[in-house]
Amino acid sequence: MSSLLLLNGPNLGILGRRQPEIYGTATLADIEAAVAKRVADRGWQVVAVQRESEGELIHAIQDNYDTVGAIVNPGALMIAGWSLRDALANYPRPWIEVHLSNVWAREAFRHESVVSPLAAGVIAGLGPLGYELAAEALVRTVPTS
Ligand code: DQA
Repeated sequence: MSSLLLLNGPNLGILGRRQPEIYGTATLADIEAAVAKRVADRGWQVVAVQRESEGELIHAIQDNYDTVGAIVNPGALMIAGWSLRDALANYPRPWIEVHLSNVWAREAFRHESVVSPLAAGVIAGLGPLGYELAAEALVRTVPTS
């Protein structure tokens, strides 16, 4: 069965109890379930990985080159995660960057993402819906192998 990689970076494992006024009340498990539901009709399952450290996220990318595509919320690694960027540069499939919050409406240090230039697309500010829309985009654009 084909799999989609759903990768979440630091501090995203505590969604639901992390600054709910910014990130909402949905948990990461809720988001993972919604993405799994969205890709099921395409016959894909989801490999969901959340890690607090950049190195572990890099391992997850290297271990999942056989996935059909990826959804990546790098968290604050968007700001200076150069090793994560290099790992994503070698990921052979399309991937979409997602941020729950509208990073451009927030502090200036969140306005630049070092990984965005490599992404097939970027979704920010739509909360958990952003992950579902990213899943939908991959379902509709990844060619049948
Ligand atoms: C985030 C935005 C980042 O700036 C922040 O460091 C996060 C979450 C988001 O989903 O809105 O950890 O990626």
